[in-house]
Amino acid sequence: MSVPGATLAGQLERQSGWLTEHWRWLLDTRVLPYLPPIPSALDVGSGPGVVAASLSDRLNVTCLDIDPEATAKCRSRGLRSIRGDAHALPFRDRSFDIVQCSFLLMWLHDPERALGEMLRVSRHAVLLLAEPDHGGRIDHPEPLHPLKDLMVESLRAEGADPHMGRRLRALCSSCGVDAEVGVHPGSWDLERTRREAGGEWDWIEGTAGKSAEPLRDAWHAALAGGTLYTFTPVLYALIVKR
Ligand SMILES: C[S@@+](CC[C@H](N)C(=O)[O-])C[C@H]1O[C@@H](n2cnc3c(N)ncnc32)[C@H](O)[C@@H]1O
Repeated sequence: MSVPGATLAGQLERQSGWLTEHWRWLLDTRVLPYLPPIPSALDVGSGPGVVAASLSDRLNVTCLDIDPEATAKCRSRGLRSIRGDAHALPFRDRSFDIVQCSFLLMWLHDPERALGEMLRVSRHAVLLLAEPDHGGRIDHPEPLHPLKDLMVESLRAEGADPHMGRRLRALCSSCGVDAEVGVHPGSWDLERTRREAGGEWDWIEGTAGKSAEPLRDAWHAALAGGTLYTFTPVLYALIVKR
């Protein structure tokens, strides 16, 4: 990922802000009623631990990431964290009640193998908390329509799969498991849009580089005029082990 560090950190914070409420609902309605209080969880590809921290009132989380900086950042937040590769998790079978990941599978060269590993080290459930689908992106008004193809191409050039969201069902089937697959809801009032749209644009330019520049004025004009609407579907998959 070539997105500058500060911009990426801001993006992870924003994403978590949009999705945490629905992650909590998923845990509270689908997973936690069947487990002892504060079950153990492994967060694979945890990054700096934003997601793990946001769910730490419900889960006893261990973070794992391939990047030592991410591991250090998690520890600085007081989270347990180890360095490791999602393709070869350094744990015995059935080590954690829950294994989760977010915005990870789209970056992996072998997501099937990583999901196989998550299934192996989990006892009760695997929660693929969030994978985006940039091919389903909506931007309004019309001058911003090229953003969808631009982001798909730019993420692909970075080595990501921009359509991982729509592939979650197929991924689970290829690992021999069924899953509840869904799309996270989202709502943004004008104030929130104004607060977040600057950072969102920085992330877009950090990802797409110079190709995004011709769209910058249209983005900011729409923001100033109160007409900007942008949405990228983010999907989840919940696998409950029988
Ligand atoms: C987009 S960030 C998402 C971070 C976090 N899950 C979140 O949603 O805020 C992807 C993270 O996956 C990590 N990662 C990439 N490949 C990995 C691998 N093979 N094993 C473990 N972590 C990996 C990266 O270092 C990065 O921290």
